[in-house]
Amino acid sequence: MTHQYPALTAEQKKELQDIAQRIVAPGKGILAADESTGSMAKRLNPIGVENTEENRRLYRQILFSADERINSCIGGVIFFHETLYQNADDGTPFAKLIKDRGIVVGIKVDKGVVPLAGTNGETTTQGLDGLSERCAQYKKDGADFAKWRCVLKISETTPSELAIMENANVLARYASICQQNGIVPIVEPEILPDGDHDLKRCQYVTEKVLAACYKALSDHHVYLEGTLLKPNMVTAGHSCPTKYTPEEVAMATVTALRRTVPPAVTGVTFLSGGQSEEEASINLNAINNCPLTKPWALTFSYGRALQASALNAWRGAKDNEKAATEEFIKRAEANGLAAQGKYVSVGGSGAAGQSLYVANHAY
Ligand code: 13P
Repeated sequence: MTHQYPALTAEQKKELQDIAQRIVAPGKGILAADESTGSMAKRLNPIGVENTEENRRLYRQILFSADERINSCIGGVIFFHETLYQNADDGTPFAKLIKDRGIVVGIKVDKGVVPLAGTNGETTTQGLDGLSERCAQYKKDGADFAKWRCVLKISETTPSELAIMENANVLARYASICQQNGIVPIVEPEILPDGDHDLKRCQYVTEKVLAACYKALSDHHVYLEGTLLKPNMVTAGHSCPTKYTPEEVAMATVTALRRTVPPAVTGVTFLSGGQSEEEASINLNAINNCPLTKPWALTFSYGRALQASALNAWRGAKDNEKAATEEFIKRAEANGLAAQGKYVSVGGSGAAGQSLYVANHAY
């Protein structure tokens, strides 16, 4: 049996837990605005906007300039490297703009997925080399939490044991490095919604993947109170002919989490994974109303499901900026309520009801 030598001081642990708690305080969740340059093309091209550095800055400014209404529902914002060093029109760095309103600044630190040779199209995520130095610099530049996304797939032959173990281990190694630098790691083992599998199969795979992650985090002496989990909700595959109710999704999701995620973990911040904006809010609301004991905060860390209506309203026009910001605020408020089980759906018409599913999604 290995012995644990001290890895973090009491002060370091307290700082990490405080950061995690601030992000997922009641009614708060995360805006995932960390799309890589390549992913931004997939957001901007459909609305006829060229994917330039300036257009990405203008778009992020639309989100970050939302008024004080978001202060009570957004606890953290995840940045992409480029955005962390961009400024608003008046010269204020985006990171300062966010931090000054009491919202925690986060940074995507992984460098994307790469193939695992000899598997049926499975991947691991790279970016460990130099990670400690990058985390130290990001901490100095205002970031207090980080994200690293791993991807698993459901099919007849996947996820393989190799993919489960490799991704769990790389997430744990990343989490350990972050904590050594005062950064709260978001652990994200995303199981893609691609496929025709049913709800039960997704629940089974989610349980196996999460169990492996928490074994690896324990092996790497990661301080769980100073972490957040970013999982998929347990849903049927996108092409599954059976449709399930939000209550069924909620029961499967909370059951899987209760079986695998230690109560010491401070919060669970779901990704939206191609659900429509409305669906993502309704499912989160059902999860919070699920009649099982839930020892962690259960909230959102949405990318597509917080931004689709805003992008659609903007379309690159200066005159639309205010309307686009309003659309973002609307979704942020809806999800803030859903995180407390208080969201009442007003129906998913227009962009809010549209599926945001992308096959084999990269971020
Ligand atoms: P979606 O909510 O668009 O799935 O993205 C969240 C995210 O950050 C995935 O890594």
